[in-house]
Amino acid sequence: MSRVAGRHVVLGVSGGIACYKSCVVARRLTEAGAEVEAVLTAAAAEFVGPVTFEALTGRAAITSLWQPGRALDHVRLGREAELIVVAPATAHLLARVALGLADDFLTALLLARRAPLLMCPAMNDQMYAHPETQSNLALLRSRGVHLLGPVTGPLARGEGAGPGRMVEPEEIVAHAERLLRTAAPWQGRRALVTAGPTRERLDPVRVLTNRSSGRMGYALARDAWLRGAEVTLVSGPTTLEPPPGVEMVRVESTAEMAAAVAEALPLADLLLMAAAPADYRPGAPLQEKARRADGALKLDLEPTRDILAESLPKRKKGAVVVGFALETGDPVASAQVKLKAKQLDLVIANDATERGAGPEVLTNRVTVVGKGGAEALPLMSKEEVAEAILDRVQELLSKRG
Ligand SMILES: Cc1cc2nc3c(=O)[nH]c(=O)nc-3n(C[C@H](O)[C@H](O)[C@H](O)COP(=O)(O)O)c2cc1C
Repeated sequence: MSRVAGRHVVLGVSGGIACYKSCVVARRLTEAGAEVEAVLTAAAAEFVGPVTFEALTGRAAITSLWQPGRALDHVRLGREAELIVVAPATAHLLARVALGLADDFLTALLLARRAPLLMCPAMNDQMYAHPETQSNLALLRSRGVHLLGPVTGPLARGEGAGPGRMVEPEEIVAHAERLLRTAAPWQGRRALVTAGPTRERLDPVRVLTNRSSGRMGYALARDAWLRGAEVTLVSGPTTLEPPPGVEMVRVESTAEMAAAVAEALPLADLLLMAAAPADYRPGAPLQEKARRADGALKLDLEPTRDILAESLPKRKKGAVVVGFALETGDPVASAQVKLKAKQLDLVIANDATERGAGPEVLTNRVTVVGKGGAEALPLMSKEEVAEAILDRVQELLSKRG
């Protein structure tokens, strides 16, 4: 996420037990290259000292309106910050902001703000459920404050589990990045991404599948969401964590993937078909488990549905469509054929036999084949490949207006 390098972020911290996790938020944002300024309420400073935030961000943390040398900094920061993240946001802070109070540095800064505000509430479940907190949250939401969480999970020791737990730092940082990066032409666009292998049943315990890990598709879904798109990820079976913010649709077989794609297709401005659906399936799956003792097993395979070809008549007008061609032999030549036959804007070609590329590994070397020619990219991580592909998609989306 070097894409937020140099961006100016204020991290507001109010006094809840989740303060210890704000240190990780400060750390991750700083690692990503953002200029982070931590602002602590007096209660927050009881939980974690300002020196911790100073050591993590490289900037002195602010704890008081009355700090010498900082007169009017609340107004300056309100004007200059590109994003304000408050994590955790206590019940008390939510109430103060809802009322428009300005009785400490953080609330004064929030009243002087111009930037988007992301608040991550965290509190005991009864405090969260209380009508006063709920009406403060509704009021803040109606004023355009971005509220993230809380989630249900273990609360402070002895408090059991319930709704009130702050969302995890990684998710807060992902939402922060999205708010910093969202811009035309991604805003309001819907992306449909497919990822992973599919599985075709041979018998009740065995399946026919392939080596796709889903990494490429998940990286594309994540990056499209971080750029501001609304993303639906149709995924075959994988062991990967769902990317933040995306709508997950889990499928097993190629027929299920085709059905899920057909449903999301009419609204999609962008199709990124990175899945490796099984091309064949047993014509007649066995109802009982096949047994070795019964001797050799002959499989009769039939072709599955061609999801990309089927999408052709149902695509939204002007949609940008990207296909993938994982081939042996001459992947670029196959990609050129696929580009025409399936009316695609780009085909990402890669060689299944090359070391460090294709399924299972963390890296990939691809050639981007478009109407204007082929562009070979160097060996990179799949996350970097996803960014490079979406840079080219961004150009196409801009041209479509
Ligand atoms: C040990 C302890 C844990 C607390 N945890 C929370 C919490 O998770 N969420 C919350 O809203 N308030 C919590 N509080 C209460 C707040 O610290 C208190 O309301 C304080 O006035 C908040 O001030 P601030 O919003 O200015 O930071 C806790 C208090 C204590 C003593």
